[in-house]
Amino acid sequence: MPQTVFLGTGFYVPDWIVSNSNLTRWMDTSEEWIRERTGIEQRRWVPKDGGLSGATMARHATEMALEAAGLEAGAIDAIILATLSSDHAFPGTSAFLQEQLGLPGVPALDIRTQCTGFLYGLSIADAWIRSGQYRTVLLVGVEIQSTGLDLSTEGRDMAVLFGDGAGAALLGAHDGEERGILSTHLHADGRYARSLWCDVASSLKHPRISMEDVEEGRIYPRMEGREVFKHAITRMPEVAHEALEANGLQIQDVDLLVAHQANARILEGVRRKLGIPEERMFNNIHRYGNTTGASVPIALAEAVRAERLSEGDLLCLVAFGSGFTWGSALVRW
Ligand code: ACO
Repeated sequence: MPQTVFLGTGFYVPDWIVSNSNLTRWMDTSEEWIRERTGIEQRRWVPKDGGLSGATMARHATEMALEAAGLEAGAIDAIILATLSSDHAFPGTSAFLQEQLGLPGVPALDIRTQCTGFLYGLSIADAWIRSGQYRTVLLVGVEIQSTGLDLSTEGRDMAVLFGDGAGAALLGAHDGEERGILSTHLHADGRYARSLWCDVASSLKHPRISMEDVEEGRIYPRMEGREVFKHAITRMPEVAHEALEANGLQIQDVDLLVAHQANARILEGVRRKLGIPEERMFNNIHRYGNTTGASVPIALAEAVRAERLSEGDLLCLVAFGSGFTWGSALVRW
């Protein structure tokens, strides 16, 4: 049975750099509060006047991954795209990405498990490749959070956290010595669905979005920050250990940990609970903020380009997000 290896990675972030100082002009916040509580210095947002879609960012990230893999788009057998911020109500953004890649007929799937989307997608791609269903699968995490944020003071707890971007991985079948994805582990707990959510647009009513929804702020994401923090720093170490135990490995065996870039306090909490030294964790939260479904693949693509992974290294990926959802993967690089 083939194993799933990473053939190439890529990422794309918009040009517009939004600093903490920029945010202080729009809402009652401070550079000090943002830096101290989240570790974020700046984030990238798509242009205010539009013109940059999630599908286009995903294409740019894909092109970087194809170049890294030495492949053409025609080698792609299937597309999985993780996002909570699809370009349109339907179809999903994967259809528009497939169109831009010029791959009519290739299956294209959107998954919506928010910050854990890349891990869920990795598990699906791995199952497809191990079963022989497909040999080369494109997996993209892409997010445009900036256009959906409440930039007033009422929304400041979330508005300061999020950025836009895309990360991509080309996954391929590998026949031979043990390499690639060792295991993936996925979880969810719907009891916390409303602890980090966005209520509207909702198909529970007609119209799906009303002026009252807009006026009462139901179109914006809302978060029970402390509850999310508590669960995030519990579930990510837990699911990382689940992956290690499933493979008879220990945290000391991990050469690099790439976690969902939620905020610096969560990342530090996860690092401490796992007892992994800083030099064996790759973070870029300070540069891009929380790019949700794109955060793990962007961080992985940057870690590869920073030469933080060598052949044979053990990579641990872990994420936690809205749903709540959480997941992990172990990869022999
Ligand atoms: N600027 C200034 N003050 C702020 C801001 C801001 N941007 N946001 C909140 N505050 C204030 C609040 O109004 C509150 O003031 P008060 O006590 O006078 O009412 C005070 O700061 C504390 O607010 P909390 O939300 O309780 O702030 P907390 O100390 O919990 O830190 C934070 C907020 C950093 C978001 C924290 O809750 C956290 O880390 N939560 C994890 C959630 C997270 O990072 N989510 C990302 C998306 S989900 C994910 O990716 C997993």
